[in-house]
Amino acid sequence: MADVARDDKTRRDFLQLAGWTGFGLGVALTAWPLIHSMNPSADVRALATVKAELSAVEPGMAITVMWQGKPVWVRHMTEDDIAQAEALSTEGMRDPATYADRVERRRWLVQIGICTHLGCIPLGHKEGEPKGDYDGYFCPCHGSHYDNAGRIHKGPAPRNLDLPPYRFLDDATLEIG
Ligand code: FES
Repeated sequence: MADVARDDKTRRDFLQLAGWTGFGLGVALTAWPLIHSMNPSADVRALATVKAELSAVEPGMAITVMWQGKPVWVRHMTEDDIAQAEALSTEGMRDPATYADRVERRRWLVQIGICTHLGCIPLGHKEGEPKGDYDGYFCPCHGSHYDNAGRIHKGPAPRNLDLPPYRFLDDATLEIG
């Protein structure tokens, strides 16, 4: 009698276990397409980052790389450019930052070319454009003046030009995003 009861219990346990296992598998199979659809596809991931080839960008030259609809300004700084940026004291700056705070690699200044006031594109990135009172960038929309490291000194812009996330994949390849 005791053996029959034990057999019944064992069978019940087995059926319960089988049921739970089947349930778990069903949930996993149902969830997989959902989880899979939440992974960004390769083309979406590619849009999130953009690569820039820098080997042809000589000291003193600058390029614009579009990243997520925004112009990213990449400037190969000369020693004179760097000395000029480092000569300015951060004291009294609205958004204090040293030149070193704004660059990953000393020779390369990478920043978003959008005025932090209301989103105009400042002048000064292209050759021959007005550079404002601080010899950097000038936003004529409402008169914001940035220095050559993109730090705000005068006008209504509340902060320095924003810096995008970026990394150097090697000495000549920049990945933004
Ligand atoms: S948008 Fe640049 S100063 Fe207003």
